[in-house]
Amino acid sequence: MANQTDSSPELLEYVRSVSLRDDDILRELRRETAELPMGQAMQVMAEEGQLLALLAGLANAGTVVEIGTFTGYSTLCLARALPPSGRVFTCDITGRWPAIGEPYWRRAGVADRIEVRIGNAVETLAELLAELGPESVDMAFIDADKASYRAYYESALELVKPGGLIVLDNMLFFGRVIDPEMRDPDTVAVRELNLFLRNDERVEMSLLAVADGITLVRKRIR
Ligand SMILES: C[S@@+](CC[C@H](N)C(=O)[O-])C[C@H]1O[C@@H](n2cnc3c(N)ncnc32)[C@H](O)[C@@H]1O
Repeated sequence: MANQTDSSPELLEYVRSVSLRDDDILRELRRETAELPMGQAMQVMAEEGQLLALLAGLANAGTVVEIGTFTGYSTLCLARALPPSGRVFTCDITGRWPAIGEPYWRRAGVADRIEVRIGNAVETLAELLAELGPESVDMAFIDADKASYRAYYESALELVKPGGLIVLDNMLFFGRVIDPEMRDPDTVAVRELNLFLRNDERVEMSLLAVADGITLVRKRIR
């Protein structure tokens, strides 16, 4: 059986040099975000943004729900991957960060595909479920407070169509998942959700050990 190749900084640099498709809008949004406290740690890696766009295309996504907008980098990658009639409903608890992303969405010509919903995402998801209806969404991306991940997952599972895709970020939680000393609510929630997902018969799943751990979940077609 082949093993996971160790990813040295040099190998990651190589991967970036042969696979990252970048442009000024993405670069400038990354640069502006990196100046914020915790900005770089909060934002998805550039490679992950590209992966999200590829996944949205594979899912033939027209409607996407994103939980955790921040400065809207992943939002931008997702919106660009949709047809002009597509929609990204992106949720954040504060409007402060999405306001930074908005000029970049406009420059990229995709601002009209993006609807920002401000509030606690547990409540916003309940509102979206009432508004859009169950099984109406093609893809969900979960990237907000970890303690609520299980609640976000259950709402996302109600929202996505059979065969639809749910992507969960930070499922290795900076390596904390394997540190027994780490018993804070966020780490415990991610650990418990990883175990839960492995046994969840409603879905097919795979945990990718790339970036900070990305779990792909496909809702089974009944
Ligand atoms: C890791 S960042 C999202 C990063 C973003 N996906 C990107 O690539 O730039 C997490 C975001 O979740 C938001 N957040 C935290 N708790 C939340 C909650 N209860 N409801 C909605 N959003 C929340 C934070 O304000 C923050 O902007």
